[in-house]
Amino acid sequence: MRAGMISAAFVAALAMALSSCGSAPELSKEQIVLDNIFSRKSVRSFTEEPVTSQQIETLLKAGMAAPSGSNIQPWSFVVLQDKDRYMEIFGENNFNQRIFAQSAAIIVVCSDTTVVRAPRNDPQGTPVKMANGTWRDDAGAVTENILLAVEAMDLGAVWTACYPYPDRMNPVKASLGLPSEVVPYSVIALGHPSGDDQPKDKWKPEKVHYGKW
Ligand SMILES: Cc1cc2nc3c(=O)[nH]c(=O)nc-3n(C[C@H](O)[C@H](O)[C@H](O)COP(=O)(O)O)c2cc1C
Repeated sequence: MRAGMISAAFVAALAMALSSCGSAPELSKEQIVLDNIFSRKSVRSFTEEPVTSQQIETLLKAGMAAPSGSNIQPWSFVVLQDKDRYMEIFGENNFNQRIFAQSAAIIVVCSDTTVVRAPRNDPQGTPVKMANGTWRDDAGAVTENILLAVEAMDLGAVWTACYPYPDRMNPVKASLGLPSEVVPYSVIALGHPSGDDQPKDKWKPEKVHYGKW
């Protein structure tokens, strides 16, 4: 009986050892997330491999998971996958033509500068249209979320400024038919990286002040 128990334990231990043999060590959530943040870099050259609609949807979901002031979620997106179409806009108008000519898709992150809600001093009052003070911050959080998801999916992307430059915003707004209160904030060019871009080490302890500057 005792010998039987020992051999059963031995067999179980052996099975566990064999099942873990050859498999990669499990990474903690902290390691996975921090590795991804530290690996992100701007990618400006791409192969001709397309990006799938499913990948784009995952990126948009990551974008929409961003925080926003009062959870207003003022963002909207214009996805462009037809190169002829997006080169009409981004091949001109002070954008870096070379980046867009190579990219597989473009995501224009837009943000609504207005919000319809009850006045702060009268939460039960009639909702009115007012300025949304955090639309830029919300769009920035969205853009970074998308860039981090790009990194995690082994894709590459670069955040191209649209806001605050009128010579970029105005033609993009007109070409894409955005409503007057919606601003094209960033233009994310993405695809499969063709080069070997590396993340930059930006850690500078002298930038940190504890307690007081
Ligand atoms: C607000 C903002 C605007 C940017 N605009 C452009 C741009 O117009 N063109 C471009 O090539 N890169 C642009 N970038 C990417 C930066 O050049 C890049 O993030 C920076 O050089 C640091 O490199 P890294 O992203 O690899 O860490 C922008 C980045 C930010 C945050």
